[in-house]
Amino acid sequence: MPRKAIKKDKEKNAKAKPKKHNRKYARLRGMKDVLPDEYKYWELTSKKATDLARVYGFERIETPILERLDLYERSTGRDTDIVTKEMYSFTDRGGDKVALRPEATPGLVRAFVEHGMFNLPQPVRSFWMGPVFRHEKPQSGRWRQHTQIDFEIFGEESPVADSQLVLIAYNFFSELQIDVQVQINSIGCSECRQEYITSLEEFYRERGKRSKLCNDCRKRFGRNTLRLLDCKEEGCLSVRDEAPQIVDFLCDSCREHFISVLEYLDEFDIPYNLNPFLVRGLDYYNRTVFEIWPSSEEEGAEDGEDALLSKRQNALGGGGRYDGLVELMGGRPAPACGFAMGIERVVSKIREKNIPLKEDTGDYIFLAQLGDQARRKIFLLFEDLRRRGYNIRQAFTKDSLKAQLEAANRLGAKYSLILGQKELMDGTILMRDMESGTQEVIDYQKITDELDKRLRNGESK
Ligand code: HAM
Repeated sequence: MPRKAIKKDKEKNAKAKPKKHNRKYARLRGMKDVLPDEYKYWELTSKKATDLARVYGFERIETPILERLDLYERSTGRDTDIVTKEMYSFTDRGGDKVALRPEATPGLVRAFVEHGMFNLPQPVRSFWMGPVFRHEKPQSGRWRQHTQIDFEIFGEESPVADSQLVLIAYNFFSELQIDVQVQINSIGCSECRQEYITSLEEFYRERGKRSKLCNDCRKRFGRNTLRLLDCKEEGCLSVRDEAPQIVDFLCDSCREHFISVLEYLDEFDIPYNLNPFLVRGLDYYNRTVFEIWPSSEEEGAEDGEDALLSKRQNALGGGGRYDGLVELMGGRPAPACGFAMGIERVVSKIREKNIPLKEDTGDYIFLAQLGDQARRKIFLLFEDLRRRGYNIRQAFTKDSLKAQLEAANRLGAKYSLILGQKELMDGTILMRDMESGTQEVIDYQKITDELDKRLRNGESK
């Protein structure tokens, strides 16, 4: 720079008014401080999640924020946006390539494998909460550091697990009085998905279609074609509407699995929207995938294309099944599924609402079952009683009554309700006083009356 120009520049700087804030010490772009006024909503949110985790038998686990970079490359996926564009990764002083976790699932799977958790009674239900980092373009509801709440189930292939995760997510939001829509799809297994991808590629190859796609999607085509369905760009969305749908390609066992998940959701009375284009942006999923979107009412908008776009971009939660990941990470093959929710987005939805939560009365009721039919019925009773505000506990994964009653004792339950084959036929249930060990046969239809009489001095909630 010529001397004259430097002098002029110095003069200009000297004249400039001092800045009010020293930007050097402002928080980084896309990062957030949580001040006391907002923090109470964080507490409300994490308490609700912690309570649900306890009720559904999930145990808290922690993992480090920093992990090896290749953990995410291998699990989240080398071609995903998270890994290619958004990770905070660097080489540490010892020369190791590391990354701030961009999501919790890979670390949780690593911990499952590293600690030999397949030796524990299965399924293992893990609950996790913590910060994650993604160098995304900051915009409303999108932070570079955000906080996730995670529920994962390892070692359970039954569709009950998938539907129970959706149920927990749904309960979480409805109990915080946030109206949501459950979006659900199945992306099949590696075999039926391959057939679908071939057909999808044929579809996109048809004349003129690829020219409408965004640059990213043109690059994804052939490498990760499924992700074209997930793109939020207008041109890509307009082409997608005519695309073949994966449900038409599911193999028999994937179709059966998906139908069972939906049947359970129907039984639990959870409304959902079958979304044939929901594929999720991470590589490890198979079969069930789902997202929780704010409902139109919460968004204050009609279901137009713009509103849909904003919901997809600001999903409140998402997850699915990932049966191959444990093995891919070096563990014994173990089916798994899970989901995560972003606290910042949840809090921003409940901020204006001051929601008083019901206090825990401390009197636990344990539900025990014998046999498949009883188990199915007791799932529904569990939901019914929980929604009515009783403190319910269960150990549905244990089959023997003895093991279930031991669990009830460990939890300090006041009463156990026991449903076996005989009670099913008679339309009754056994109520066991856990302290005295006495049991009474009561009419199944009168369960809540009996519980209210004993626990609430006859008042019903
Ligand atoms: P995800 O959909 O990438 O899934 O993130 C889960 C949730 O985190 C989203 O639904 C959203 O609420 C929140 N979230 C994501 N990105 C941001 C952001 N930039 N700012 C604020 N909130 C955000 C996963 O991470 C999977 N690990 C979920 C899972 C668990 N799948 C199986 N198990």
